Amino acid sequence: MISADKIPNNVDLHLNKRLQRALEHWQPAYIQWWRDMGPQGFQEYHQVYVRTAVSVDPSGWAHFEYVRLPEYRWGIFLADPVVNRTIGFGDFFGQPVWQEVPGEFRNQLRRLIVTQGDTEPASVEQQRWLGHRCPSIYDLRNLFQVNVEEGRHLWAMVYLLHSYFGRDGRDEAEELLARQSGNRDKPRILDAFNEPIDTWLDFFMFTMFTDRDGKSQLLSLSESSLDPLSRTTRFMLTEEAHHMFVGETGIGRIIERTCELMKEAGFSEDVRRIGGIDLPTIQKHINLWFSLSLDLHGNEISTNAAAYFANGLKGRAEEVKWDDHRVVESIYKLETVRDGELKAVEVPMRNAMNEVLRDWYVGDCQAGVDRWNKIFERHGLSDRLRLPDRKFNRGIGQFAGARFDPFGRALSDEEWARRKHEWLPNAADKAFLLSIMNTPIYEPGRFANYIAPPARGVKGRPINFEYVRTEV
Ligand SMILES: [Fe+2]
Ligand SMILES: [Fe+2]
Repeated sequence: MISADKIPNNVDLHLNKRLQRALEHWQPAYIQWWRDMGPQGFQEYHQVYVRTAVSVDPSGWAHFEYVRLPEYRWGIFLADPVVNRTIGFGDFFGQPVWQEVPGEFRNQLRRLIVTQGDTEPASVEQQRWLGHRCPSIYDLRNLFQVNVEEGRHLWAMVYLLHSYFGRDGRDEAEELLARQSGNRDKPRILDAFNEPIDTWLDFFMFTMFTDRDGKSQLLSLSESSLDPLSRTTRFMLTEEAHHMFVGETGIGRIIERTCELMKEAGFSEDVRRIGGIDLPTIQKHINLWFSLSLDLHGNEISTNAAAYFANGLKGRAEEVKWDDHRVVESIYKLETVRDGELKAVEVPMRNAMNEVLRDWYVGDCQAGVDRWNKIFERHGLSDRLRLPDRKFNRGIGQFAGARFDPFGRALSDEEWARRKHEWLPNAADKAFLLSIMNTPIYEPGRFANYIAPPARGVKGRPINFEYVRTEV
């Protein structure tokens, strides 16, 4: 039986019997999914020190306690309404926002919500074996924190489907548990969510770059005219920030340790032989995850994106920072490939909204890479990491059919095939990473040799706190 206690919420769930029944029906399937597809081997006998969202009060929206993972309280929270909020962009600019789904946009909105919703459980599935290779229990706890919150983001989308999309919405909510990452017959919707994440370098890159695509998407959905969607995604962004913190600081700590090892090895880059992760390997993983995450923003020129914007369904990140919110006349200059040649073309900005969002994303990623590069500076090392050119290794959009190196220089297919493993992780890199992650570290306060400890612990707890403990 679901009670307001069992599902923390600020949507007066107990007053809405129809919705409560629908979620009661869905919840056991969710828990079964979590047990089957969530963190493997950490369901029964482990207690994890996690935060749980209990309100949207900025001064104290979460509380921290030990929980067994299947007993985590996945809640439903909408950010507080903005009084007299009006539509911020597109053809209906200035009109009151919608509290119900307009019939003519029902399919488009459902598609947006389902696509976002599908990524949330997908990432949990991708990461379900990682616990067995953890570099510390501090990191193990962070992995599980990210996982339970992605589960909560699924709840958030399912809440919208159940509340506003009737029968179709309920069917979609079931499908969200039926598709599985990497499943041949029923894969997850977006390709990037069908590959397992089996090393911690990949996990940190995923949370740095792919969760940041989540931030792009959530920022643009938080502008939506559909007010419940806006409020739901606004609150999700609060949690999302922590996921990117895990990624950015995770890589930062690896870089820190690599710098130490490079000095130990007499300023040699060859830190693999002393168990560190060498910079070329880190750079290759940046190249991979950045390019995959660029793809997630979709085609540069898109009539869907134009319709989403025109209809007020999905805006730009930080829409208030723009001057023109209708964007009827503006054009966007786009680099593209025509007949094998790079060429600048001008397109109506509405059609380039995916690219506009990608611009925001690239800037946000660059700021993170700049912060990483400060670590080298602090160590007095001249090495630097960089984002690859956005044409590099693209599978979606204008550049998908062409080949470029990380500096944006065009390559022949033959040259690409010969050289791509200079820029992207290969089987030997993977084997090396797995070899140094073979033995999980469960002793409080100890860290794997390839990663530095964090600057501080979680929520004022010491670094050597027992963030994950085994039940006796
Ligand atoms: Fe999420
Ligand atoms: Fe996330």
